[in-house]
Amino acid sequence: MEFPFEPYRIKVVERIRWVSREERVRLLHDAGYNIFKIPSDAVYVDLLTDSGTCAMSDLQWGALMTGDEAYACSTSFLVFRDTIRSLFGYKHVIPAHQGRAAEGLLFTATVNEGDVVPNNIHFDTTRANVEFRGAIALDCIGEEGLDPYLDAPFKGDLDLAKLEKAFAKYGPDRIPFVMLTVTNNSGGGQPVSMANIKAVSAFARARGKRLIFDACRFAENAWFIQQREPGYRGRTIESIAQEMFSHGDGCTMSAKKDGLANIGGFLCLNDDEWAQAVTNLLILREGFPTYGGLAGRDLAAIAQGLHEVLDQDYLDYRIGQVARLGRRLDELGVPFIHPTGGHAVYLDAKAALPHIPPSQFPAQVFTAALYLEGGVRAVEIGSLMFEHTDPDTGELVHPANELVRLAVPRRVYTHTQLDYVADRCAEVVRLGSRLRGLEILWQPPQLRHFTVRLQPVGGGAMVVEA
Ligand code: F0G
Repeated sequence: MEFPFEPYRIKVVERIRWVSREERVRLLHDAGYNIFKIPSDAVYVDLLTDSGTCAMSDLQWGALMTGDEAYACSTSFLVFRDTIRSLFGYKHVIPAHQGRAAEGLLFTATVNEGDVVPNNIHFDTTRANVEFRGAIALDCIGEEGLDPYLDAPFKGDLDLAKLEKAFAKYGPDRIPFVMLTVTNNSGGGQPVSMANIKAVSAFARARGKRLIFDACRFAENAWFIQQREPGYRGRTIESIAQEMFSHGDGCTMSAKKDGLANIGGFLCLNDDEWAQAVTNLLILREGFPTYGGLAGRDLAAIAQGLHEVLDQDYLDYRIGQVARLGRRLDELGVPFIHPTGGHAVYLDAKAALPHIPPSQFPAQVFTAALYLEGGVRAVEIGSLMFEHTDPDTGELVHPANELVRLAVPRRVYTHTQLDYVADRCAEVVRLGSRLRGLEILWQPPQLRHFTVRLQPVGGGAMVVEA
């Protein structure tokens, strides 16, 4: 359908302030060309992330009011735990304040220096959390997932040959578990097939290893399985999600995505010893095991969100809206990864700005220019985020693609607003060779893209006069 129909009415609205181009020039300069530092009230359409930015439903707002704030064993926790148990199927449900807290707890309890954690592609905080343990975060994405224009249904699939190679190279003792990120955010929001989930699970279990999902966008992944994988058309999203998780032994989860909440996360585990070790850390860092750094009302809103995210109408609309944005960009000649992902469109800055080398951050240039030309905030997923030193050769490695992610918040923007975004992206493509590369003025030792300061190469304006 050209206009995926919103399966809801708007009950509360939030005003958007228009910002002049002169003000945007100044703000961008003051922010060191880092869009994380732009004040959000100076952003017209904010596609920085789909995380924690969703509009909650009337029932979720209602759940906030009835949240139980008891320190121990609150009713809200019991509802939260039981909702998650029935959907995810794991024995231990450990709340945490967001996804990376769940990752930090799991990795601290189970990953040691010199270990290797394979994944299809680690998200940036996941990679950083693994590396913080002195371990190697190994991406084993399939070849299809590395080809930006290949129209394949499951480009998030993990390559079993690469996984086998990792086991041969590092030895099973150094691999505490295998991870699968569903959908694969850093690889274009592409889904992982049930066939691949089963194969990775069988591979890991045959070697006595556990499979842990990074489950942030599990419902969107289940929708893709339903739509694209033979045999799943008649199945509910809930039953597909349950089947996905049945092949694993636990998950980390950011409820800020498919939990339809503004904050929250959790860790699920089947293993009693791991759960005990994690719980000890939880009490030290996050809070008592029945709230884990969250308020009771947050737990209540997440439990309600986990029901709503399984709604077929919601997911048809949600992923349909992202696909529609992709069609507009196609019509306007803006290059992006095909097919569109579940939560985002990933623009191909290498193709759009071929005159800017990876060392001058073409995707960051596109991101900055998109703010300048439209007050639209996107995020770079390219050399600024992922450039790293190869642990074996010591050489500087640039990622295969230089991407600009337009992440669509859930239930927030209209088709009109996204049409405007497509139009502004086309304007940046039109500017093309008039845009200059960026160079780093200052950077922190880790996760630099959040706080880095940049300037156009050699100083001066970003857009060269025509
Ligand atoms: N895993 C994946 C695949 C993610 O996309 C994220 C967050 C996390 C883990 C961490 O979760 O933010 O709750 O700590 N992704 C956001 C994004 C930030 O913009 O893609 P968190």
